[in-house]
Amino acid sequence: MPIAPNTELWRRLWGVASLRRWNPRLPPANTASMILMLKKGELTMRIKLARILDELREDHRNLTRLLDLLENECRDVPEEGEPDMDLLHDIMHYMTVYPDAIHHPREDLVYTALREHCADLAGGLESVPGDHREIAELGDTLRMDVEAIISGAAVTRQHLLEDLVNYVGHLRRHMEWEEAELFPRADSLASEKETATIDVSAHLGDDPVFGATTAKSFTNLLANLQRVQ
Ligand SMILES: [Fe+2]
Ligand SMILES: [Fe+2]
Repeated sequence: MPIAPNTELWRRLWGVASLRRWNPRLPPANTASMILMLKKGELTMRIKLARILDELREDHRNLTRLLDLLENECRDVPEEGEPDMDLLHDIMHYMTVYPDAIHHPREDLVYTALREHCADLAGGLESVPGDHREIAELGDTLRMDVEAIISGAAVTRQHLLEDLVNYVGHLRRHMEWEEAELFPRADSLASEKETATIDVSAHLGDDPVFGATTAKSFTNLLANLQRVQ
């Protein structure tokens, strides 16, 4: 089973990759100093709202594939068998390093932009940040179940499945709600104010599974995704 890297270090490393993709001509020394400047708040990285929305929708398509894989992995296992716990661990590890660390915080920023630029459009969306915290907590619960089983602790199959159904159902409903409510309103803002940008300096990072480069610790997860395509 791959060792989970330190999440902050992970994000910083992927931040470098992200900056170089943003401007491939940047030499490594410059990207390192840019990261430092971003962290000190001396530099900001702003992305157009319309592009952020494209990326968020792409993330949802990818997340749906992972939730399908998570469900299938458990549904197809016979009563006496056990799901592929390493695969479940990889999926839940990914949820902490990309959706919880990059995707959801960027959606919080989109919600903040709506509130700042067009309060009328933000009405009824107040639950976005709280929903993200709840999803992270449900994900932590499921990840801890998986880690406990891997380390030999007694977690019943029923308990694991309940936490899994709870997490998957909540995240699916949340994404559907965002596609129906948050994103269309943000589309309106993006088309009304074509120059609208979001400061993503605090949430830089490439997707380590579906991005330009797959992180080594996620190659098994990617292979499983390709297998079920
Ligand atoms: Fe969200
Ligand atoms: Fe989302």
